[in-house]
Amino acid sequence: MPFPAAFMDNLIARSDIVDIVGGYVTLQKKGKDYWACCPFHNEKTPSFSVSPDKQIFYCFGCKKGGDVINFIREIENLPYPDAVRFLAKRAGLEVPESNQSYDESRQRARLLSLNRDAARFYHQLLKAPEGQAVRDYLQRRRILWKTAVRFGMGASLDRWDVLLNAMTRRGYSKQELLDAGLVVRNQRGGLYDKFRNRLMLPVIDIRGDVVAFGSRVLDKSEPKYMNSPDTPVYSKRKILYGMNLAKNTKRPNFLMCEGNLDVVTLHQAGIDNAVASMGTALTEEQARLVDRFRKKELVFCYDNDNAGEIATTRALELLRDAGFTVRILQLPRRRTESGELVKQDPDDYIKFQGVDAFERLLSGSERAADYRMSQIAGKYDLTTDEGRLQYSQEASAFIITLDNSVERDIYTHRAAEAAGVAPEAMRELVQRAAKNAYSGQRKRELRRELNPATQFVQPTERAFRYDNVRSARAEEGLIRLLLMDESRFPEPLPLSPEDFSSPVLRKAFFTLWGIRQNGLPVSFHQLSEALTQEEISHITAVCQGPESPENASKALSDYIRVIREEADKRSGRTDGDILELAQRKYKKQKPKGGTEL
Ligand code: UTP
Ligand code: MN
Repeated sequence: MPFPAAFMDNLIARSDIVDIVGGYVTLQKKGKDYWACCPFHNEKTPSFSVSPDKQIFYCFGCKKGGDVINFIREIENLPYPDAVRFLAKRAGLEVPESNQSYDESRQRARLLSLNRDAARFYHQLLKAPEGQAVRDYLQRRRILWKTAVRFGMGASLDRWDVLLNAMTRRGYSKQELLDAGLVVRNQRGGLYDKFRNRLMLPVIDIRGDVVAFGSRVLDKSEPKYMNSPDTPVYSKRKILYGMNLAKNTKRPNFLMCEGNLDVVTLHQAGIDNAVASMGTALTEEQARLVDRFRKKELVFCYDNDNAGEIATTRALELLRDAGFTVRILQLPRRRTESGELVKQDPDDYIKFQGVDAFERLLSGSERAADYRMSQIAGKYDLTTDEGRLQYSQEASAFIITLDNSVERDIYTHRAAEAAGVAPEAMRELVQRAAKNAYSGQRKRELRRELNPATQFVQPTERAFRYDNVRSARAEEGLIRLLLMDESRFPEPLPLSPEDFSSPVLRKAFFTLWGIRQNGLPVSFHQLSEALTQEEISHITAVCQGPESPENASKALSDYIRVIREEADKRSGRTDGDILELAQRKYKKQKPKGGTEL
């Protein structure tokens, strides 16, 4: 245990989950629980609940859950020991430091300091005579020196061990260099610099820490961009390149683009709200990062090619219920001297058409719905009846997803116009699409209500899928009972860890059981140290199941019996294995994702 139990108990007692969560979202009391729109995914109707009794939170939408420490870990993006320190500071408690937690945060501090020293070192090289090639490249890209400084750019040299030697001399170990992703091991076990002969682009988070590096080659060789791998201080899903600067913009929105150097050029041209997701589609974590700065509008300026279109569509899907206004800035293709049409990114566009032209495009950029509508129109040949019919159908399927009736009306008219049909005809199509969609949804709901088998749902996390659902249900029940009232449990417990069929349930139960055996009171927060965030979320979901104190004794013996029966079948202690075999066979025939009892 990194922190003493007495300290943790005190901390938990002083960190009421309703108070703490209430500092981040507006909670409303309904019944004995509090509800809010989930801060971890985008939604309009609250499915995020906080239970003051159990001192846990759980989102029925995204299925995240846990205790107050897990909440802080998720929302502040902190590792466990730092989340404990965060809460301790809030509660005015002094943190007794132990080795393990100290080691973890020390490692983070070391890696951040190594990254910063590496960034400084690369920057010195850029200024040195050896940096000439990279300086020439900056000039070719029309990147001014002051921009290079603002972005902390640097140069890596065409040699194998420059950084390795420099950082080792500064007292960083080989392991630390490996952990930071700055050096790589070759087949013979030797180490060499990962980044060589490249323009270095440090990735700086919103706290100002250098968490990783992006880099670009100086010529046409491959790979064009090379980035740090994920490390203990860097997760590429959570970072937007340039946000450390863009967060201070006075503009009303953020401009999302694809490339690091697009961000650089845009900032240099005074468009200081540009950020980039560095070659990946926008993630939910990045959307949350954007949300922190309370700008309600996002402008997407992805490449005008197939990949860019796919990435834009995906981002729109992701942000559909996020409460952002999303606009799309589509850069026109450019005709080259030889008459060829080529795509342009913001960097090209500013170079060829100038920043004023870009600002004009920016102020007139399309709304997301317009973009989708023209995308749909582009798929069909509207000069044929067949094409118009198909267009009308797809357009109406899209229109019903708009949640504002005025908007639906406007786009119904536009679609009618585009398809060359009467507005009434299009309206009828839209209504029919809405009805179909509704009845499909209602049918699925009914089926779920009528089928008792589906009341028990397999865990959403693939890794936690139950092999033996009958046993797993009982294992879940035991965990709920243990958290509700540990005094009912017989000692010694007539079950061993191997009797549990689900690894995650086994881990949770026996973690808590161990605590009880040490004579300490069992509580949920003892799990958050031993289990991962995903495991905790799953156990929180388990805790949502019903369990009443009145039936507890009967339930307890039933659960134990079921677990033993199933364990016996597995180990062939009875002839139950024939049954098991039959069950397995049956399971195989079931469609994927189905539920079973
Ligand atoms: P692009 O290939 O569109 O390049 O990659 P770009 O931004 O126009 O680059 P320049 O102008 O030729 O320098 C877009 C982004 O995708 C990521 C980088 O973040 C890049 O900025 N990327 C691209 C990679 O991570 N790896 C690659 O090999 C290529
Ligand atoms: Mn480019």
